[in-house]
Amino acid sequence: MAKRTILTYGDDGLRKICRSQLNFDERLHLILDDMAETMYAADGVGLAAPQVGILRRYCVIDVGDGLLELINPVITAQSGKQTGEEGCLSLPNRSGTVSRPEKVTVTAQDRHGKTFTISAEGLKARALCHEIDHLDGVLYIDRMEK
Ligand code: CO
Repeated sequence: MAKRTILTYGDDGLRKICRSQLNFDERLHLILDDMAETMYAADGVGLAAPQVGILRRYCVIDVGDGLLELINPVITAQSGKQTGEEGCLSLPNRSGTVSRPEKVTVTAQDRHGKTFTISAEGLKARALCHEIDHLDGVLYIDRMEK
């Protein structure tokens, strides 16, 4: 495994709409491993592929309950509202107030291409929304209230 460089605000790659990941191969596994290592080293709770310069639809998340890898994630249901502080590894040393759904249901594929569905609330729901936004070139500052 190897740490990757995290792109920061101003890099064009952070503003692109990413394409679906179609190959569930060794290369994907290597990048996912690197992304997890990079996220943990930076003390983050999530990291999306475009943040390491790969314009494909996948991300890793760990809000303290274990590593979650999501390939081609889609939010299929959401409810409620939470408002709180949010940050991003691509915008270091900054944070802002962002409203997100309190609960979300996400369907995605795992690293082998197997489809799964998860439901989450609170911080995990926030992280899912934040990372999936990255796959469409959206940053939390676009949704920031202050
Ligand atoms: Co981010």
